Amino acid sequence: MNGLQLISTGSALPRRSVSNEELAQMVDTDDAWITSRTGIQQRYFCSEGESAVSLAIAAASEALRNAQLTPQEVDCCICATVSGDFATPSVACMVQAALGLREDIPVLDVNAACTGFLYAASVARGLLCGNGGRYALVIGCEQLSRILDMTDRTTCILFGDGAGAGVLESTQESLYADLLGARGSQAICAAGPGSQPSHIQMEGRAVFRFAVEAIPRCIEGILAKTGLTLDDIDWVVCHQANERIIDHCIKKLSAPAEKFYKNMSRYGNTSAASIPLALDGLRQSGQLRPGMRLLCVGFGGGLTWAGTLLTWKGDSHETA
Ligand code: COA
Repeated sequence: MNGLQLISTGSALPRRSVSNEELAQMVDTDDAWITSRTGIQQRYFCSEGESAVSLAIAAASEALRNAQLTPQEVDCCICATVSGDFATPSVACMVQAALGLREDIPVLDVNAACTGFLYAASVARGLLCGNGGRYALVIGCEQLSRILDMTDRTTCILFGDGAGAGVLESTQESLYADLLGARGSQAICAAGPGSQPSHIQMEGRAVFRFAVEAIPRCIEGILAKTGLTLDDIDWVVCHQANERIIDHCIKKLSAPAEKFYKNMSRYGNTSAASIPLALDGLRQSGQLRPGMRLLCVGFGGGLTWAGTLLTWKGDSHETA
């Protein structure tokens, strides 16, 4: 079965950024507590006219533009989200309509919370292999502000809105590996809009313990599967939930800290959008070179986890 390589990325953020100081005016918290416990300094919240769908459309069209592909060349579109505008149509179908993707392709949403983008990539890979297609448009988007309890200081300070997208190409050329897993648990829980409770609820300490066990397990699992070591990896792109979680894992693995990308200070935890936003951050800041190996690690609600090894083809594709 072919693997996948990443040929482009895109992202979109709401207009409104919300600082820790601004949150401190709404709940009993302060910048020092939030920064020291999470590394988060600001996040974005949607306002009038913005939603998970509008962000997904913007991120996906940027990723297509950067890949120099037309919408007609996309062979499947998968969107990871837990906060789409509607139960149906899916966010992916709304992206299809907005961008003018073909009608003879599979288009669907995936719910694996913060692991969603990596689950979506794996689903896309299976579809491309099964259907013989070449290009997958994979999106992660969230409007978590819609399901946050703004009176609960233990959760509302953690999350933000945003979207990221990637174009992934089916290939035999570059190394690809993934491992996905899940353990049904309500340690992180949010019901759909309209039902009770509709807000994100979380057992903070239990989730922390889960995360610092899952990340090293995913990294070691991918390295064992591929025969690589961390020396062969250019970037480790973890889900950006909390800086302390990543730092804890770096220590546990005795890993080189400079390989672990971090951007949670600017965006907070954007769940399914987190990993594609990080990938796009690497691209935008000029830190990706053709052939670079990216070890992505997702973990979150479900509980779910995933490790995915991708190669960045980006620049070579854009100049081809
Ligand atoms: N501002 C100020 N104080 C706060 C606060 C806030 N926003 N949130 C909680 N506190 C208080 C608590 O009430 C508690 O006070 P007490 O000792 O008087 O009872 C104290 O801070 C410690 O709370 P605790 O929950 O033990 O803090 P913590 O060190 O475990 O940090 C998290 C809380 C949420 C930051 C941490 O558990 C965490 O990062 N968990 C993982 C969360 C996550 O990333 N989830 C998403 C995974 S995809």
